[in-house]
This record gives sequence, structure tokens and C-alpha cells, in this order.
Amino acid sequence: MMRIDILTLFPDMFQGPFSESIIRRAVDQGSVEIFLHDIRDYSEDKHKKVDDYPFGGGAGMVMQPGPIAALMDKLMAEREYDDIIYMTPDGQRHSQHLANQLSLKTNLIILCGHYKGVDQRIRDHYITCEVSIGDYVLTGGELAAAVVVDSVVRLIPGVISDETSALTDSFQDGLLAPPVYTRPANFRGWQVPEVLLSGHQAKIDQWREDMAWQRTRKLRPDLLSDES
Ligand code: ADE
Repeated sequence: MMRIDILTLFPDMFQGPFSESIIRRAVDQGSVEIFLHDIRDYSEDKHKKVDDYPFGGGAGMVMQPGPIAALMDKLMAEREYDDIIYMTPDGQRHSQHLANQLSLKTNLIILCGHYKGVDQRIRDHYITCEVSIGDYVLTGGELAAAVVVDSVVRLIPGVISDETSALTDSFQDGLLAPPVYTRPANFRGWQVPEVLLSGHQAKIDQWREDMAWQRTRKLRPDLLSDES
């Protein structure tokens, strides 16, 4: 069983994504436990303050180290964590490869920054892995953390009912997925490719592989070059 502890100032932001569909089923069936921790609960300030002005001046607020460290220390005293992840636009870019790796872990902490981010000393002394979901800036790490959790949890064995389904996703073999069709075979005169109706599995597999290559070459040639 995997356990994910999420440290955030906005735990409610996760209610939507975690209470529907596959992630919900994964939680309900006990494949993953997700704990949301409100960093503000660990503030020792009488006004529950968790951020302050940056030393050296400049715009925005910085999350103070105290509440985050107190929460991290409590969790780390209770169990061993495989990784302590910080969501940040300057982290390593999230990928299917990283999702695969994280899906094999037992205990993960994910720290979400807000405002200008967290005090650098938290990153230096607690964080083992910094992850970005893309080259754009969100208002905080929460949506990014939800994306990472979603991409990881669906890979836990038994979470997707058809066990082979995750293996045929785009990116899982470095290619985009081939097109898919369902009934009716003729919709407004738009026909499903004949081969898919042929019942000839080897030909269908070959067609799918050809389409995956064609699509990738056309839409994401960068995936086929060595640099990516
Ligand atoms: N926090 C703000 N923007 C982010 C991004 N693009 N990825 C991860 N965390 C973030």
C-alpha cells in the first residue's frame, strides 16, 4: 500500500480531483492512502502566520521554514519516506518515466509552495526531489501536486481494472497512442477503419503500431530524437 502525505496551505484544493473517478477508487479500495496536512496548523504564531517578507526585499511573500519543518519532523519520526518532493516551476520536468518510478515507492511527501515559494533552507535540508509539471507558473504547487499524484496512482497495480490498460497509454512506450473507435461502426457515414472490424488480431496490432509511429512523427517528432 502506498502512502502519500501532501503538505499545503490549501488542502481543500484537492477535494475535487481526489474524490472522483480512478483516484477515488484507488483510495476506496485501499491501493493508496492520501493524507492532506494544513501547514497553517503547525504555525506557532498567535495569528497562525506562515509567511513573511523576503530578506533583501522584493515582491511577494515567502513561506517560513518553521511550520513546514515541524510538520516534516513529525511525519519523518513516524515512518521512513522514499522521497520528499517539492512542487516548483524550477524542478525537474514531470514525465511518464518519473510517474513510473514514483508508483513503485511506499511513502511519499509532497510539499506545495505558494506565493513566492518556500524558504530555501527547507529545500536544502528536507527535499530530495523537485518537480515541475511544465514551463508555466501556477498560483501554487497544489494543482501540480494533483497532476503528479494522478499520474502516479493510476499506475499502482490493480488501480486500473484492465491491468494492461496503463501499458497502452501514450508515452508508456515512448510513442503517442493510436486512435481509438467504438460503436457504431458507421456514424453519420464516418466509417471506422476496416482493419479494426476484421477480427484479425495480428493485423490490428500492426495497424496500431503503424498509427502510433505516424502520429508521433507528425505531432511529436521530438519524442523520436535522442535529445528528449
Ligand atoms: N508551482 C507553481 N508552478 C508550478 C509548476 N509549473 N510546476 C510545479 N509546481 C509549480
